[in-house]
Amino acid sequence: MIVGIPKEIKNNENRVSLTPAGAHELVQRGHTVYVQHTAGINSGFSDEEYEKVGARILPTIEDVYAIADMIIKVKEPIECEYNLIRKGQLVFTYFHFACDKELTEAMMRSGSVCLAYETVTDRQGGLPLLIPMSEVAGRMSTQEGARFLEKPQGGRGILLGGVPGVKPAKVLVLGGGIVGTSAALMAAGLGADVTICDISLPRLRQLSEFMPKNVKTLFSSGHNIEQELPVTDLVIGAVLIPGAKAPHLITRPMLKLMKKGTVLVDVAIDQGGCFETSHPTTHADPIYEVDGIIHYCVANIPGAVPCTSTLALTNATLPYAVKLADLGWEKACESDPGLKNGLNIVDGKIVFPAVAEAFGWKI
Ligand SMILES: NC(=O)c1ccc[n+]([C@@H]2O[C@H](COP(=O)([O-])OP(=O)(O)OC[C@H]3O[C@@H](n4cnc5c(N)ncnc54)[C@H](O)[C@@H]3O)[C@@H](O)[C@H]2O)c1
Repeated sequence: MIVGIPKEIKNNENRVSLTPAGAHELVQRGHTVYVQHTAGINSGFSDEEYEKVGARILPTIEDVYAIADMIIKVKEPIECEYNLIRKGQLVFTYFHFACDKELTEAMMRSGSVCLAYETVTDRQGGLPLLIPMSEVAGRMSTQEGARFLEKPQGGRGILLGGVPGVKPAKVLVLGGGIVGTSAALMAAGLGADVTICDISLPRLRQLSEFMPKNVKTLFSSGHNIEQELPVTDLVIGAVLIPGAKAPHLITRPMLKLMKKGTVLVDVAIDQGGCFETSHPTTHADPIYEVDGIIHYCVANIPGAVPCTSTLALTNATLPYAVKLADLGWEKACESDPGLKNGLNIVDGKIVFPAVAEAFGWKI
């Protein structure tokens, strides 16, 4: 199969969809890999590294789309790419169709086969191509929270781990899934005093079994969160109710319960945010203040660490890319029902019910 790797052109997107190691794997299996000039550069991979493993470099994005049977990307195509996508071409990437009607209609018009990372499932029903980015975002949320707790950054001026004779900072993590667990482990590793809240008792039981001693679990309720806020220095919002907007676990009046300079990191901002006062921010301008409380609400946290995020993402996507290249999408999806769940649009038609439902369409 001919595989094409365009350079990501969405604002501030520095990841690339295939590493030289991935290109090597595909080439070894007899596929032809075309990579757009400098596609990997912001993730630390030069054109020469791709060429060394047998991939070929093409000068423009138009060249890549024109030649490839399968396009592998990171982010959804943006407007200037819509007309480059051809009938029957397989596009394997994050699409998030349900929140973008224009993209959905453009892909339907293109007649391409859209296989979305975010709806591919594993045997346990998990989302194997979303987990790596949650792992990155969770770890980053503690790192960024620690940074903005520093006085010159606007925070209270408190060190997460404390020092001998001085108590560590208190961190409250709301949601004990992939993001929350990663955030709590990082904070605990730095020596903070961590409390992790969830509404799932089985999850809290699991967490209390493997978390270090400086992490306590607490059932998530409005009352319990209110009790914690006056003594907390950093709150990390990491809840998810699949398919729904995030609940507002901290309302505006609750900000008054906190000390000035407390930091709120809302990782769930891509689902609307779990603090009432959250609105999306960017890496260029990540924080703002409401009632003396610092809010960090960056919607694409993994974008700040492309070298790590690219490797984390491609570790997960490569086995699927190999299967698709070896078998073609129809046979690959027949042989793997989890991969088939990734099919969102085929030949102009929506085949993933939740996308049609999001726009009130019938399929
Ligand atoms: N901003 C970013 O760059 C970025 C990156 C990755 C993920 N995310 C987002 O982070 C959020 C969490 O993702 P995840 O992968 O950890 O999800 P997950 O499904 O693994 O975990 C979510 C957890 O929230 C818990 N929960 C639900 N309602 C709750 C409540 N009221 N109180 C406490 N806990 C509650 C669930 O029981 C679950 O354990 C999602 O919104 C995801 O989209 C954002």
